[in-house]
Amino acid sequence: MKRLQLGVLASGRGSNFEAILRHIEAGKLWADVRVLVSSRKTAGALEVAGAYGIPALAVSRKDFPTDEAFDENLLEIFQKHHVDFLILAGYLRLLTPVLIHPFKNKILNIHPALLPSFGGKGMYGPRVHEAVLEYGCRVSGVTVHLVDESYDSGPIVAQRCVPVENGDTPDTLAARVLEQEHKIFPEALQLFAEERIAIKGRRVYIQA
Ligand code: GRF
Repeated sequence: MKRLQLGVLASGRGSNFEAILRHIEAGKLWADVRVLVSSRKTAGALEVAGAYGIPALAVSRKDFPTDEAFDENLLEIFQKHHVDFLILAGYLRLLTPVLIHPFKNKILNIHPALLPSFGGKGMYGPRVHEAVLEYGCRVSGVTVHLVDESYDSGPIVAQRCVPVENGDTPDTLAARVLEQEHKIFPEALQLFAEERIAIKGRRVYIQA
């Protein structure tokens, strides 16, 4: 078994990225983060990278003519840093085949709800939790899934439920979900590090 050589894509605060770094430090996740790329210059994830001494850079889509050219640049960065597995830790852009094909079945995303409900284009941040509460769901949760060419639609690797409590607001529900995100994302990655994942069609099988 070999350590995953991770490339991380982020657009925001970076708490999942930090949870992954903490699991690595604790020896619970067999991986090294080779580079963090942020799609926003102001993302907190850049500060997290700085604090942990992880190479990091911000790349703006505006500096490229097309989504494909943007992803081509990302691919070059990941290849230069010898990345062999990608994670989307709060990354808001859709990936193109330029990145998806070279990393087939090696890109994980985390979503703060139980997919296939409450996912898809525009479903991120507080909107997810607002929609869960508005619908009247009694549970919500978190999903870790492989990334394909649509939003939140690849094969599911791991899910965990949290209760919706009386009096929940989008913020309180988000906090309960986030606590589970910080555990399940590193745990799902560790399954890949241990080579315990087999994928057949949409189904992901976890070997004991
Ligand atoms: C998380 O809720 C994650 O599920 C979603 O984006 C958010 C990122 O939060 N994809 P953070 O940047 O990891 O704190």
